Amino acid sequence: EPCLSTARFGRLIHWHRSLESTNSTARLLAAGGADEGAVVVAESQSAGRGRLGRSWDSPSGVNLYFSLVLRPQLPPGRIPQLTLLLAVALHRALTLLDGELRPAIKWPNDILVGGRKLSGILCEMQSEADRAHFVVAGIGINVNQAGFEGELDGTATSLRMETGRTISRPALLASVLNHLEPLYDRWQQEEDDLRFVQKELEDNAFLQGRTVSVERMHGTLEGTVTGIAPTGELIITTPDGTPCRVASGEARLRK
Ligand code: BTN
Repeated sequence: EPCLSTARFGRLIHWHRSLESTNSTARLLAAGGADEGAVVVAESQSAGRGRLGRSWDSPSGVNLYFSLVLRPQLPPGRIPQLTLLLAVALHRALTLLDGELRPAIKWPNDILVGGRKLSGILCEMQSEADRAHFVVAGIGINVNQAGFEGELDGTATSLRMETGRTISRPALLASVLNHLEPLYDRWQQEEDDLRFVQKELEDNAFLQGRTVSVERMHGTLEGTVTGIAPTGELIITTPDGTPCRVASGEARLRK
């Protein structure tokens, strides 16, 4: 079982039985000056949030809900890359946990197994003028949720459902942080954005080669996903062969 081997991430962990949202609590801590690497964990959340205004179902005692305080020393334009960096760390930790799991990264913030959602990432940036003041990186992982009695609908899954085993949540949290810290340090030193993990992102991309549509300000973009740019943008090639880059939003599967 992995132990925490980081220098900073998770060296201070605020554990709560129940919170509205670990992201909200971590934001308050960060605004109050918490060091980078501070982690907030809750056994349950009453108002867990997802991207695009969705909620994150957070039943007690079975899953992982945590948020990490980060203070990246990078221009704000690079901050969205953090979500994909977290996805890589999660992917590595999950693959190490069980070599048969085959998790896929669904751009920009989901981890899927067998096409079902296992984990979601929500990064929230607090900026002051044009400098990123801090980022709260929130991660939810369905760990030991059993999935019966309509708990998880057909679009979601859990590690227990996929592996048949009960997974240690503290060990998984430690493993994610162990993988993330060196990735984060490297990313901050890189001149070339996410190129150092580009292959890993593309090789494990759920959307690679699929036909998707994305809503944009000036209409719908439809095409085949042909890659992930070093900047973290999704590359969609339209039927006429033009590669288009999408910085944010949601890619819907067409077939
Ligand atoms: C998504 O899939 O849209 C992102 C889900 C993120 C959920 C996690 S659980 C811990 C942290 N606190 C929250 O309120 N949300 C994130």
